[in-house]
Amino acid sequence: MPDIAEFMNRDHHRLDAILADFRKRSDGEQAKRFFSQFESGLQAHIAWEEELLFPLFEEGIGRGESAPTAAMRAEHQRMRELLRSIREGLDGGRKVYLRVPETGRMQAVTIKDGSGVDATVNELQDVLLAHNHKEAQILYPWLARTLTERERAALFGRIQTPHA
Ligand SMILES: [Fe+2]
Ligand SMILES: [Fe+2]
Repeated sequence: MPDIAEFMNRDHHRLDAILADFRKRSDGEQAKRFFSQFESGLQAHIAWEEELLFPLFEEGIGRGESAPTAAMRAEHQRMRELLRSIREGLDGGRKVYLRVPETGRMQAVTIKDGSGVDATVNELQDVLLAHNHKEAQILYPWLARTLTERERAALFGRIQTPHA
């Protein structure tokens, strides 16, 4: 049974590699294939964290100090928005969601050329870089240090590996 930090960091790297393949796409169909793989992989990864890892961390450090996971959940939400925006761009809708600085609210904007997808992928990569670094520095090491053997076994029992 692997170490939880090692397992989750490896999944970050696996997803980074798929996103890099997507960026090197040569045609529409290939791009969609890579993106689908990335999208489902990231959604599964986020679900493991929100449903399994974050609650363990929040229980362990006490509710009053749950700010790190609150920020991480907000970043996950932003990733979901960006995934949706890229998906729509690839499907021809070319709709991107931008945050209006004055209100902080999201607004859908239709982009007429293909630049919307690239800009959104750039933003997603930026969000992922900072977010994954924080998890690798704070969340995963805490879990690796703190979980008992039994908790670790239960955790891996509930994580479904999407790749062989
Ligand atoms: Fe995360
Ligand atoms: Fe993660």
